[in-house]
Amino acid sequence: MTDFLTIDGMSRVDLQRLLDATRANVSIAEGRAAGRSSLAGLVIANLFFEDSTRTRCSFETAVHRLGGSVLNLSPTGSSINKGETLIDTAHNIACMGVAAIVVRCAVSGGAKMVADAVACPVINAGDGRHEHPTQALLDVATLLEEFHSVEGRTIAIVGDITNSRVARSTTHALTTLGARVRLVGPPTLVSPAFERITKGPGSVQTMSNLDAALEGIDAVIMLRVQFERAAGGAISSDYRSMYGLTQERASRMPPHALIMHPGPINRGMEIDDGVADDPIHSRILRQVTIGVAARMAVLENLLAPSLVLEGVSA
Ligand code: CP
Repeated sequence: MTDFLTIDGMSRVDLQRLLDATRANVSIAEGRAAGRSSLAGLVIANLFFEDSTRTRCSFETAVHRLGGSVLNLSPTGSSINKGETLIDTAHNIACMGVAAIVVRCAVSGGAKMVADAVACPVINAGDGRHEHPTQALLDVATLLEEFHSVEGRTIAIVGDITNSRVARSTTHALTTLGARVRLVGPPTLVSPAFERITKGPGSVQTMSNLDAALEGIDAVIMLRVQFERAAGGAISSDYRSMYGLTQERASRMPPHALIMHPGPINRGMEIDDGVADDPIHSRILRQVTIGVAARMAVLENLLAPSLVLEGVSA
């Protein structure tokens, strides 16, 4: 692998290798075990053209845990605010000898554009509506902590599917590993065409009735309505009652079912406080911890691949 841009097209073997490496990194991500020095002397550039808390901070933490250094760039305080383009910015940062560029941008396909323009490895930290591959990795790794395998498991992903790069990447990963995915939301935000994105042995079903979709599930991943992508115009005033994970609705889910959300959360919109903070079922903060482990795995896979291939971190 020279870049990490999508889950779409990734083989089950490659995905499983990254998931194994992620699992092996969890104790370091938790701060319980010492990190490694596999990235010592390397500078990783975080180019975030869109806002981020979890992804940016967890890439930064992952680099620190592996002994590297981080260069952070965002529109505020940089020449991006003067109109410098994504590609010109990437070219200039690449010239500073960075080992890899982590990029988040509003343009679907923007990470690939950067990868085509620079010589160093590029990691997609979320590009428009397209993909968010490290989120998929951490989502599946979080499920695997509980279920050991997702094969045959039923996972509902609920909300603004049309605008969600998380839904795309996580669906690709889950179906590659044999899970049954239910994509759930109002017809304005979930097209039946999504059923065609099935990979490998898994399946994708689109549904508009949330109560029916929650029957028999093993986990539900709630999504934020992405008002910044004009999704607000596609939802009605009864969105919470129809598609929100309320306390009452969550109480009817199978007792073992996990509750997940990539964040940030619109509390009281797609999920109620008591559900998001449920100490038994919610894995929302656990996803954040595992996100550091997943990003460590991706960074080492690109920059110190022998460690991942030889299972040194396992
Ligand atoms: N899940 C996620 O991508 O969160 P951020 O936008 O805060 O990075």
